Amino acid sequence: MNNNTNENASQRGAFTSKLGVVMATAGSAVGLGNVWRFPTEVGQNGGAAFILIYLLCILLLGIPVMICEFVIGRHAHTSAKAAFAKLAKGKKWRLLGLNCVLSPFFVMSFYMVVAGWTLYYMLQALIGGLGGEVDHAAQFARFSTHSWWPVACAALFMFITHWVVSRGVQKGIERSSRLMMPMLLLIIAVMVVCSLSMPGTSEGLSFLLQPDFSKVDTLVVLSAIGQSFFSLSLGMGCLITYASYFGPDTNLTRTACSVGLMDTMVAVMCGFFIFPAVFSVPGVEPGAGPGLAFITLPNVFHLAFASVPVLGYVFTVLFYMLLMLAALTSTISLHETLTAYMVEQFSMTRSRAAMWVTGSVLTLCVLCAWSFGPLSELKVAGLTLFDLFDFITSNVLMPLGGIFICLFVGWRIDRQVVRSELSHHGRLHEGLFSLFMMLVRYVVPLAITAVFLQGLLWR
Ligand code: PHE
Repeated sequence: MNNNTNENASQRGAFTSKLGVVMATAGSAVGLGNVWRFPTEVGQNGGAAFILIYLLCILLLGIPVMICEFVIGRHAHTSAKAAFAKLAKGKKWRLLGLNCVLSPFFVMSFYMVVAGWTLYYMLQALIGGLGGEVDHAAQFARFSTHSWWPVACAALFMFITHWVVSRGVQKGIERSSRLMMPMLLLIIAVMVVCSLSMPGTSEGLSFLLQPDFSKVDTLVVLSAIGQSFFSLSLGMGCLITYASYFGPDTNLTRTACSVGLMDTMVAVMCGFFIFPAVFSVPGVEPGAGPGLAFITLPNVFHLAFASVPVLGYVFTVLFYMLLMLAALTSTISLHETLTAYMVEQFSMTRSRAAMWVTGSVLTLCVLCAWSFGPLSELKVAGLTLFDLFDFITSNVLMPLGGIFICLFVGWRIDRQVVRSELSHHGRLHEGLFSLFMMLVRYVVPLAITAVFLQGLLWR
């Protein structure tokens, strides 16, 4: 690094409060993965039994990996890419740093497309375009295959993200998370209460609360692991970057537990308003797949509240606002991971770096958006560009990143460094530390290897 870079690094921002740390990190974790992907997975994998396994995955695998990312980020005090080069000599580990640039780049390019959809649907819901006798499947097909609407929405979403990130760590990321996360939690609480007060909710509740283990097989377990990693934003450097803004007095273990708890609560609460609503309408299947949020749910909200259309309207608007807020706090963390890298690597100002990130991600994002319409025939290994980026990141780069981040902390970083990062002025129970080391050295890498192979072999 040259002098200029050092200067930039010393001017890097920091989160200023404990609440800011938790809200920003939970903001990264809580996203479309919770509101859209989790209910879909629960629906397709048999309900309560899946949720129980998912909880175990969060506790035994997700939280230890999150702690590893925190240790790396706070100790290195650099962007994710530079952290591995700083903490370990040897070229091999630098590949891990490279993963922390490529993965957020690819994830962002397809995530932004869905984020753009949520923006469009929010506006449609506001002007009443989702009520009445609308054929939701046809409406979604028309919109998602259009050549410029999805692109325009994704670009607008990207500019909002850009604006927040270019305002900086404290004024942009921390402040917006402290505003958006409570709003998001409030919306969910209102929706759970409304949904539970509808007739016919008991079927939805028993689907969520009565585990049926006969439906559980290896694939269900492996899906739960994959979902927990995606949901906690693990394996691609976002949390390493955020941890580099933590102060020395931030308790890493406690922060990881709070974020894990909040992320899980949001996911489960989304289940608690979505399934009672779905079951209150006869003939609608819970395992509706990825179309759940954009086809099934607007239809369900409309039918479930047919006798009180105003409630149907409010519920629909709130739902898409929720999706939008959740997506935004996550796209901010993806953007920040890349922006922090550009600032350090090329000694740029933050606003210039953010501009480069926005421009390059948007280019790829247009191709992903078009893979539903004008470019739907363009396939690589049988996958559209959108599916290809989703596949490469969720099934290859994220699990690989997770495995090697654990191995890095478990075997490569000095044990004393890990201990002192976790010990908070010397107060660390020896048994807990040994358990943590055992998890990150053996259990987590082996378990993720299993997901990784499943992702590659069973797709
Ligand atoms: N955790 C986010 C979600 O649940 C997705 C995400 C993955 C965000 C990786 C950042 C990094 O939607």
